Amino acid sequence: MIEVKHVSKEFVSPKKYPGLKGAVKGLFSNEKVVKKAVDDISFSIADGEIVGYIGSNGAGKSTTIKMMTGILKPTQGQCLINGIDPSRARKDNAQNIGVVFGQRTQLWWDLPLSESFTILKEVYNVSDEEYEERMKFLNEVLGLPEFFSSPVRTLSLGQRMRADLGAALLHNPKVLYLDEPTIGLDLVVKDNIRKAIKIINEKYQTTVILTTHDIGDIEELCSRIIIIDEGKKIYDGSLEELKDTYGTRRKVSMEVKKQEKLKGLNLAEKLGASHEECRMEFDEENKILSVTFDKHKLQVPQVMNAVMEVTEVKDIQIQETELAEIVKEIYNHGIDGKAV
Ligand SMILES: Nc1ncnc2c1ncn2[C@@H]1O[C@H](COP(=O)(O)OP(=O)(O)OP(=O)(O)O)[C@@H](O)[C@H]1O
Ligand SMILES: [Mg+2]
Repeated sequence: MIEVKHVSKEFVSPKKYPGLKGAVKGLFSNEKVVKKAVDDISFSIADGEIVGYIGSNGAGKSTTIKMMTGILKPTQGQCLINGIDPSRARKDNAQNIGVVFGQRTQLWWDLPLSESFTILKEVYNVSDEEYEERMKFLNEVLGLPEFFSSPVRTLSLGQRMRADLGAALLHNPKVLYLDEPTIGLDLVVKDNIRKAIKIINEKYQTTVILTTHDIGDIEELCSRIIIIDEGKKIYDGSLEELKDTYGTRRKVSMEVKKQEKLKGLNLAEKLGASHEECRMEFDEENKILSVTFDKHKLQVPQVMNAVMEVTEVKDIQIQETELAEIVKEIYNHGIDGKAV
């Protein structure tokens, strides 16, 4: 369904200088800055998959989505969506795809929502029967009738997101791109949006690509994730595999009696581990020492003993690493410092 082949995107912008003097200098300077937002990314996605496309702020996610939708043209490489290159045949491609950008609406701001749907029906050549059937389904899963006659600008964020999702799905696209579809939503609406995405995917085999900073979205929806960092792909695989491979860390939190005794304690050194394999953090307010360590290298009793040799421990808690922690770790330190 989706083939992304060695795609890169460079943005060229005029070089900026600081201050007022700098602004004037900038006007007369021809110097340019080149930013490689996406750097040689390739992947393919099969029919009916839901893939999480994740990475830290500025990693290049939205830029990739924009190239797949045809909004931006790659500097190098090619995207093929259902056999169509969106940068060459944007209109043909539009029939196959639906897009939601959580950060801004695609709907007509001042018109009642119903009018936006009427316009989209014409734009996408949806027949009357199809429209009726489709609206019945969308109304059920997204609860649109509640605000269908209200102008879009008066909708709450949660209503607006449901409306945007409905609008993107009106023509029953084969591929749905969702760029942060749950941003800023409360837990109930978030849950509704996730359920709707799941139903649409199951019922129509719609392929979904989703960018998000909400790990809950990933855990609920995606069996596969692609992680990008500074424009490069650093992971592409199942969620399970990611957890197995990188969920090797454990965290032991200990409430200590006398914090002064921890001064100068270097657990990693004491246990013959590297700093990467054993990290300490101390929460002074609650007197809690947290040790995060590699479970292949160290065992919980070893860590506990080492701490109890220097101070008394009042309470203890042991945690496996959660997906959120794994992802945070990858965003901070990369995957073995290498791109794949
Ligand atoms: N039109 C543009 N002109 C110049 N630079 C751009 C443009 N669009 C994006 N960039 C730069 O490209 C990089 C990637 O941006 P992108 O929006 O793809 O990130 P993202 O992964 O979606 O981040 P976020 O999680 O914050 O949405 C950023 O450094 C950004 O400043
Ligand atoms: Mg983005």
